[in-house]
Amino acid sequence: MRICNSAREVRLALAGAPRPIGFVPTMGALHAGHAELVRRCRAECASVVVSIFVNPLQFEDASDLDRYPRDLEADTERLRDLGVDLLFVPSVAGMYPEENPFTIDPGPIGEIYEGATRPGHFSGVATVVTKLFHICSPHRAYFGQKDAQQLALIRSLVRDLDFDLEVVAVPTVRDPSGLALSSRNVRLDADQRERALGLSAGLMRARQAWEEGERDPARLAELARTTGLDYDYCACVDPDRFGTPAPEGPALIVAAVRLPGVRLIDNVALERAP
Ligand code: PAJ
Repeated sequence: MRICNSAREVRLALAGAPRPIGFVPTMGALHAGHAELVRRCRAECASVVVSIFVNPLQFEDASDLDRYPRDLEADTERLRDLGVDLLFVPSVAGMYPEENPFTIDPGPIGEIYEGATRPGHFSGVATVVTKLFHICSPHRAYFGQKDAQQLALIRSLVRDLDFDLEVVAVPTVRDPSGLALSSRNVRLDADQRERALGLSAGLMRARQAWEEGERDPARLAELARTTGLDYDYCACVDPDRFGTPAPEGPALIVAAVRLPGVRLIDNVALERAP
């Protein structure tokens, strides 16, 4: 596995790399969810590129950025084992040499749900992903369904700004209790982890109701709320624009909860009956 720290090195290394090039952008602190994206990419692409960059532009809260888990050594080992060809680990100064860089405005989807709670977050995501796409020139890019609004945003970035690549969505990886894997889970103590289970349990309850015929978005969102958890939002939305879903779906229930010192997000897809 080749490790590159600058855009120039990446471009040179990829100039003659076998096609198609697959790309998995991450912020490191890798877990089995990230590994699933990389495995999918490895299975479908001739060259596999992974980036690790904790992007300051998408953190609106400085303490969240400072406390974001980092373990480059363990991540590097893991990626080597997964058969990655190129690991890109840029520096903040390398990615943002200007104090006030040009940024991307994602429009309305950047302002609701996660975007409402975290102003500027999705502009930061869209900006860094645009840069990473330009640097790594992938034919396919892999994103987790876990971050459903980010996935919708990337799909519209690619469509609206004419990136010539395919976005591949990978289903959420959960631990056996149902909790969606997240780099931030390391911040949960045993008690908080127990409480956090209410988030996925609520979503599964709503999916069950959907499968039994419930179609009212407000009712489905209500069913997904677990008593005693502090929800930022819990809503039934259409998966593309996060507006009102069509009566027979497809739909997503998206939710965010706050526990002391940690904020967790999760979602469940409600598919149209086959
Ligand atoms: P990060 O949180 O490191 O996630 C990297 C990728 O892994 C994202 O596409 C995310 O959706 C996916 N992922 C995280 N947890 C997952 C899980 N449990 N199952 C499946 N996939 C999972 O998302 C980001 O980084 C950043 O915003 C980034 C896109 C890299 C831009 O900075």
